[in-house]
Amino acid sequence: MRSKIEMIKQRMTSELSCSAHNIDHVMRVYNLCKLIADTEGNVEMDVLEPAALLHDIARVKESNDNSGETDHAVLGAEMAGEILNELAYPPDLIEKIKHCILTHRYRTNNEPKTIEAKILFDADKLDVIGSVGIARTYMLAGQFDQRIMASSSALYEKENIVDNGRIKNLSKHSPYMEYEYKFKNIPDKLYTQKGKQMGKERLTFMDSFFLRLKEEVNGTL
Ligand SMILES: [Fe+2]
Ligand SMILES: [Fe+2]
Repeated sequence: MRSKIEMIKQRMTSELSCSAHNIDHVMRVYNLCKLIADTEGNVEMDVLEPAALLHDIARVKESNDNSGETDHAVLGAEMAGEILNELAYPPDLIEKIKHCILTHRYRTNNEPKTIEAKILFDADKLDVIGSVGIARTYMLAGQFDQRIMASSSALYEKENIVDNGRIKNLSKHSPYMEYEYKFKNIPDKLYTQKGKQMGKERLTFMDSFFLRLKEEVNGTL
């Protein structure tokens, strides 16, 4: 199985090579999955490791689809199935891995049912909070010409968001809005005990960062 994992890493790297930060994210999620798995009993690592490596395999394809109709969790599960088939994975393992990938998305209606899917979900969400979360959200802020600090619930809810949660105008969005409307809710949505504990700790750090940022921006600190 080790050599197959290396082959999966290569496939993932070639698919995501046009956006290097996606590969970094995948490897952080992969490592977090292993950390959380160590605290849970009866985790099938032959399911979790490939699922972690392949979970965002369709991310670039979703980004390149201007129609907004591609869901990288749905397409990713299909692409992963084909890759694993080529690598002669047993069909029952492929189905379990596909379930993890299909259910990893924050806004999906597909709930993770297995421990492997729950671990992947938690690891993926942990990577958007804490110091990594702050760094990632400011990388995007630079890309989309956002302000360092902008918060307006009326703007966010009425002008800037469409029904399925997709941001319409990314230049009017901001890291602080992401924090207020998304990051704060993440720890409550996690499944595993370790994930919840890490989520709360990461959010506490984020709380102090944004509190201080607000004060500095307002000139009160
Ligand atoms: Fe994803
Ligand atoms: Fe991800």
